[in-house]
Amino acid sequence: MNQKYSRLFESFTFRSGITMKNRIVMAPMTTYSSNDDLTISDDEVKYYKHRVNGVGLVITGCTHVTPNGQGFTNEFAGYNDEFTPSLRKLAEAAKSGGAPAILQIFHAGNKAIPGLDAVSVSALKAENVNPFEISVETRELAHEEILSIIRAFGDTTRRAIEAGFDGVEIHGAHGFLIQNFWSPSTNQRTDQWGGSLENRLRFPLAIIEEVKNVIEKHATKPFILGYRFSPEESSKVDGLRLKDTYELIDNLVEQDLDYIHASLFDMSIKPVNSQDEKTWLELILERANGKVPVMAAGSIITPDDALKTMELGLPLVAIGHTLIMNPDWVEKVANGREAEITSELNVSKLDQLNIPEGLWNTIQASPGWFNIGK
Ligand SMILES: Cc1cc2nc3c(=O)[nH]c(=O)nc-3n(C[C@H](O)[C@H](O)[C@H](O)COP(=O)(O)O)c2cc1C
Repeated sequence: MNQKYSRLFESFTFRSGITMKNRIVMAPMTTYSSNDDLTISDDEVKYYKHRVNGVGLVITGCTHVTPNGQGFTNEFAGYNDEFTPSLRKLAEAAKSGGAPAILQIFHAGNKAIPGLDAVSVSALKAENVNPFEISVETRELAHEEILSIIRAFGDTTRRAIEAGFDGVEIHGAHGFLIQNFWSPSTNQRTDQWGGSLENRLRFPLAIIEEVKNVIEKHATKPFILGYRFSPEESSKVDGLRLKDTYELIDNLVEQDLDYIHASLFDMSIKPVNSQDEKTWLELILERANGKVPVMAAGSIITPDDALKTMELGLPLVAIGHTLIMNPDWVEKVANGREAEITSELNVSKLDQLNIPEGLWNTIQASPGWFNIGK
């Protein structure tokens, strides 16, 4: 290995006591490839097994905690006990490389797939800001329903424990239900779940409390709890801004979490209307100020990219689409073969990548980050 990368290979121990052998995390990525009954498919097992051998921590794609919280087609489910064997199959695949594995839990809110009884914090109109921000019309959740969704996050956490996962990540990012509650642009409620900052935070904090209670009650060994957020709703005039995220971070710091996870798209992005040179990443790190470990994902391609973020103070570096294209990214860096890391998805090598069909179809329909080459 090129010694300058040794920092990426330092171990890291979470507050719960679980240790990562290095600082590279497999970012949560949906594979659109469950069986039609929403159980984990054999292709998904192969996809994970191929990518989990080098990384220090695995975070699975999201699973919905209630039937109407499904955000993607063929997204594996975790909303009742019948799915526990399927979750166990995923946990075994995700842990097969020796790294701890975390189940990402969420509810899609107004970004649920069409055809469900779509619900959110308020009655929201369908809104298509861009191809990545498609939403459906929702009805407003009743108070009792909110309480039941909070319990559903706890129930799926219990299933994660029973299935053998080492933790859960609460997905509070990407404009899904938790962010619908937190965002002043979608939260139009006037009861205790809306209005003031304290009220808009009530739902995410209640989920954290419920999940912690379940961990306390059911986990027989250390279990990681993380929380993912998006720093801003840049495309919305009245959307969340970094000043709101500062409030969120301040509250999350009080929660004794194992980590907070910033979903950044790109590490070089600066806040909306920023007058200053600092990026989202630098400002988030400043605000967290070492009080809670920060993880971030956003267009890390080379080990130099990863190193640069660590030099800014980021302890945990998550890698997403690059790991789809380079399943053995970590092994390549560890063996001094980083020059072989590609930022292109070569169609001629597709059969060597174990990309499930549903994911491949999605990549082709919306290549985005994926630079598709011959
Ligand atoms: C195919 C695909 C599926 C994704 N699914 C999820 C998901 O289930 N949950 C989530 O929080 N983020 C999801 N993301 C976002 C990634 O976790 C990550 O934040 C984003 O891709 C930026 O990191 P990257 O540039 O390293 O890919 C997904 C990204 C991709 C490319």
